[in-house]
Amino acid sequence: MAERTCLAVVLAAGEGTRMQSSVPKVLHQVGNETLLAHVLRAVDRAGATDCVVVVGPDHDAVAQEAARVSPNATIARQIERLGTAHAVQAARSALERGFDDILVVFADTPLVRPETLMKLRAALSGGAAVAVAGFTPADPAGYGRLIVEGDTLIAIREHNDASAAERAIRLCNGGLMALDGRQALALLDRIGNANAKKEFYLTDAVALANDAGLLAVAVEVDHDDVRGINTKAQLAETEAVFQQRLRQAALDAGVTMIAPDTVFLSADTKLARDVTIEPYVVFGPGVTVESHAVIHSFSHLTEAHIGEGALIGPFARLRPGARIGRRAKIGNFVEVKQAEFEDGAKANHLAYIGDARVGEGANIGAGTIFCNYDGAGKHRTDVGKGAFIGSNSSLVAPVSIGDGAYIGSGSVITESVPPDSLALGRIRQVIKEGWASRLRSLKAAGKKDAS
Ligand code: UD1
Ligand code: CA
Repeated sequence: MAERTCLAVVLAAGEGTRMQSSVPKVLHQVGNETLLAHVLRAVDRAGATDCVVVVGPDHDAVAQEAARVSPNATIARQIERLGTAHAVQAARSALERGFDDILVVFADTPLVRPETLMKLRAALSGGAAVAVAGFTPADPAGYGRLIVEGDTLIAIREHNDASAAERAIRLCNGGLMALDGRQALALLDRIGNANAKKEFYLTDAVALANDAGLLAVAVEVDHDDVRGINTKAQLAETEAVFQQRLRQAALDAGVTMIAPDTVFLSADTKLARDVTIEPYVVFGPGVTVESHAVIHSFSHLTEAHIGEGALIGPFARLRPGARIGRRAKIGNFVEVKQAEFEDGAKANHLAYIGDARVGEGANIGAGTIFCNYDGAGKHRTDVGKGAFIGSNSSLVAPVSIGDGAYIGSGSVITESVPPDSLALGRIRQVIKEGWASRLRSLKAAGKKDAS
């Protein structure tokens, strides 16, 4: 099958009004990746050699997303929404170039797996001219029904056009279709719009293939592969299914999760074997965790890299550009952004580390703030290897602390500190002996001032 050419036509011209959103439907996300991106990656993995994304008239954002994910994809516009067959016709110039297999996929069906698309392609190489993904939903209302006789798919009847007997059929059209590239245009050109919705139905290709003596077949697939999204509730249900898939894949790859149902992953989360994730952890996009790292409860990570054996949280927040070294420790209520935190460095409690490097083995005391922003621009802080930053210090960037230097607790550091030195940037302590007892006696005498 590898040598067969394949054109994927991805229909993304949906109106999306039922989403109650100003965002085009296919730009909503599942696992922090757009619905469109999921589908484009699936067709790519199913061996599509070319791809056309059919978008609506004012869908520049959709076209941009398609170009970001699949730079080689062609964008076609469907100006009027006249039905699924009409939408495929928008890809006509690509269809005319000639392909062995044509895959038609809806962009609002993000859980479609490459292996499912390959099954449809396999039906074509097995001699079918049209292969349709069939599934059995709990409630078939609204779906096209698959009329099957023996091994042949005779027709697809849209719900609105179906008789009572046809509506009783449980096997439904999932919306994925594979067409023999040599027959596709002839079939599409014969599709009319004499139906309840006055639309050009792609599903009519099945009956037309039968009329022409060509074979059409139904390929049964898992419901999840064809789960279409029209509402925010369906988006949430799909997210839940996708999270289950991600959790299962992580467990299969040797990740330890005490309560997997409470861990939320992104499509691109990369967890090595022997990573441990405690309950209630959220992975935003772009996170990689190396083996033997532990992510404690209630941590939130986005675009971050966690080195081998590092300990994160509980209650840690790792923002974009956080790079945590091997066996480093980021403890409770510590926020890290755009910072290189080298091997064995520690920030155990209550700190903000932004736009910085923290050298190997350095210790950042509780309450330390890297003051990276002066209201206009961001500035960098560099903390050397083995440096010790006393609790409740402010490092006012740009500033650098030399290797092995000490910063006294409560310091406000505005000038760079040489290696192995001590810096104190705080008011010297004053003692006034007897002051407190004088205050109490003055108060007792009805006065206010003890100085
Ligand atoms: C379609 C199928 C139905 C199937 C169901 C599965 C047809 C005629 N019907 O019905 O058999 O059970 O999907 O979910 O194919 N689109 C365009 N341009 C158009 C019309 C549609 O791009 O002019 C796109 C939509 O964005 C959507 C897809 O095609 O991604 C399906 O269209 P929709 O109108 O939702 O079809 P259904 O009525 O759900
Ligand atoms: Ca639909």
